[in-house]
Amino acid sequence: MSNEGREPLDVRIDSEGREGLTGTTPASIYRPLSDPEQVTLPPDGKPVEAQPVWRTDFPIDWPQDQYVGRRDFMKFMVLTSLAFTVGQFWIAAKSWLRARANPPGGVRLASIGDVPIGSTQMFAYPNAHDRCILVRSAERTFVAYSQNCTHLSCAVVPQVADGVIRCPCHEGIFDLATGRPLAGPPRRPLARVTLDVRDGQIFATGIEARTV
Ligand code: FES
Repeated sequence: MSNEGREPLDVRIDSEGREGLTGTTPASIYRPLSDPEQVTLPPDGKPVEAQPVWRTDFPIDWPQDQYVGRRDFMKFMVLTSLAFTVGQFWIAAKSWLRARANPPGGVRLASIGDVPIGSTQMFAYPNAHDRCILVRSAERTFVAYSQNCTHLSCAVVPQVADGVIRCPCHEGIFDLATGRPLAGPPRRPLARVTLDVRDGQIFATGIEARTV
């Protein structure tokens, strides 16, 4: 298209009508600054406090710009410190809950007499929703594992006579004595509950999530 006969565009921002197109304000409305610490008078002449947020967040004068920079830095520091403090409280609360769930000496599970040889018993450890199984496979042999299969968390079932723990979902098989996978999709051993047998009582003292 030919520009012949058309007025060339006036690139000056203070040209009439130009401010509506560009979103800028005529330069002539700004008061000239003699002091570098002085801030520019906003186009509407209102004080800084009465200006819209975008104008105070994106100032055009150095003093205000530095103020915004310091303010944003302080905000960042306060939020970071707050997150750090909340994290510390979270860790402390978790430790307290863990210590409460696992008192010194362990959590009593059963009396030896309550678990006949070859039998199993369910219990919750370390929290009320963590299902575990206790197995007495011989006179003095007790083992305990999390009941969650390490494949997709189905509940495993001990088959004491066969010396295995079986997962019915995908036919995963674990060794009863060690909790290690023998067949099927599981690749990691069952989480093992450590036991302490003393004074005719069986105590759970911890739980070990193992990778091999
Ligand atoms: S969930 Fe146990 S074998 Fe798949």
